[in-house]
Amino acid sequence: MTKMMKAVSIDNYGDNSVVRLVELPCSTPGPGKIRVAVRAAGVNPVDWKIRNGAGQRMGMTLPIRMGSEISGVVDAVGEGVDILGEGDEVFGIVSSGGFAEYVVVEADDLVRKPERLDFIHSAAIPLGGLTAWQSMIDAGGLKAGDRLLITGGSGGVGSLAIQIAKAKGAHVTAMASSRNEAFVRSLGVDAFVDYTAQPFEQVVSDMDVVFDTIGGETFKRAFRTVRPGGVLVTAVAFPGEDKPWSDVRVERVYTKANADQLSSLRSLVDEGRLTPHVGTVYSFEDVTEALELSESGRAQGKIILAIA
Ligand SMILES: NC(=O)c1ccc[n+]([C@@H]2O[C@H](COP(=O)([O-])OP(=O)(O)OC[C@H]3O[C@@H](n4cnc5c(N)ncnc54)[C@H](OP(=O)(O)O)[C@@H]3O)[C@@H](O)[C@H]2O)c1
Repeated sequence: MTKMMKAVSIDNYGDNSVVRLVELPCSTPGPGKIRVAVRAAGVNPVDWKIRNGAGQRMGMTLPIRMGSEISGVVDAVGEGVDILGEGDEVFGIVSSGGFAEYVVVEADDLVRKPERLDFIHSAAIPLGGLTAWQSMIDAGGLKAGDRLLITGGSGGVGSLAIQIAKAKGAHVTAMASSRNEAFVRSLGVDAFVDYTAQPFEQVVSDMDVVFDTIGGETFKRAFRTVRPGGVLVTAVAFPGEDKPWSDVRVERVYTKANADQLSSLRSLVDEGRLTPHVGTVYSFEDVTEALELSESGRAQGKIILAIA
C-alpha cells in the first residue's frame, strides 16, 4: 500500500486563503537522495514571499509544496548514498516541501544535526545560519577585528549572524527597535542601535562590512555607514546600477545549500558559541498563523512548525 503523508501546498498564488494542508503519497528517494521524516520546520519570510507570487519569479511551478528548512530523521536512502543512513538525525535547507511529514532531498544538502539541540532548535539554524555565513564571510570577507553592522539584529537571520560574527572575532553593531534591545544585547553585540530612536546612519559610521537583512530604505541609507572601500551585503534588496556610494562594494546573496558550512555551524553549536533562539512554536495545523506572524515583520528569533 502506498505510504501517505500530510503536507502544506498551494495551488495558486495569494494570501493565506490559498494555503492547504493536504494528503499526498510519499515519494521514494532516487539515486543520491534521502527521505527525511520531518520533525520540525523553520518558517521564514521566503515562504510567504513564494506564496505571494515570488515562486513564479524563482522558476517554481504550481502546485508548490511549502517549506524551506527542516530537521528530522532519515527514513529511506536512495542508491549510492553512503554519507547518511536510516535513523540519522539531520538538518538543512530544502528547495521546497519542508512543511510535510516526509521530504525527499539531495543527501549532499543535509548533515547530522547538533547533538546538544532538539529537533525544534535544530530547525532554527540552517537557513538563517547559511545566509549569515554566505553573506558576511563569503561575500563580505568578514575577518577578526572588522567593524560590522547588522541592520536587523533580532530576526531569524540577524540573531544567528550576531553570534557567528562574534565567534569570528568581529566588532558587532546590530539594530532593532527598543522592544528587542535586551534580546539583541543578550546575543553579545558590542553596540546596539534603536532604529526607531534616530536615523541609524547618523550614529553608525566607518563600518568595514554591513550585512543588510531589511532592504528598502534601510538598505539605501546603510551606504552611509560603510567606510570607503568597505562592503555592503544584502540578502533582501535588489541593488541597481546607480549606486549612491561609488567606493562601496555591493553584494547580493542568494542562499544555497552547503554541507561544509552547515557542519561549521554545528561545530559552533557544539562549542557553545551559537545558540538558536526560537520565539514561537506552532503545530502543523496552525501553519497559516505562523506565516501571518512572519509576514508581520515582528518575529523575535525563529518561528518553528512542530511536525511530529
Ligand atoms: N537572499 C536569501 O537567500 C535570503 C535567505 C534568508 C533570508 N532572506 C531574507 O532576509 C530577511 C530577514 O529574514 P529573517 O528571517 O531574519 O526575518 P524575520 O525573522 O521575519 O525578521 C523580523 C525582525 O526584523 C526586525 N525589523 C523589522 N523592521 C526592521 C528595521 N527597519 N530595522 C531593523 N530591524 C527591523 C524586527 O525587529 P523590530 O520588531 O525590533 O523592528 C523583527 O525582530 C527577509 O526579507 C528574508 O526573506 C533572504
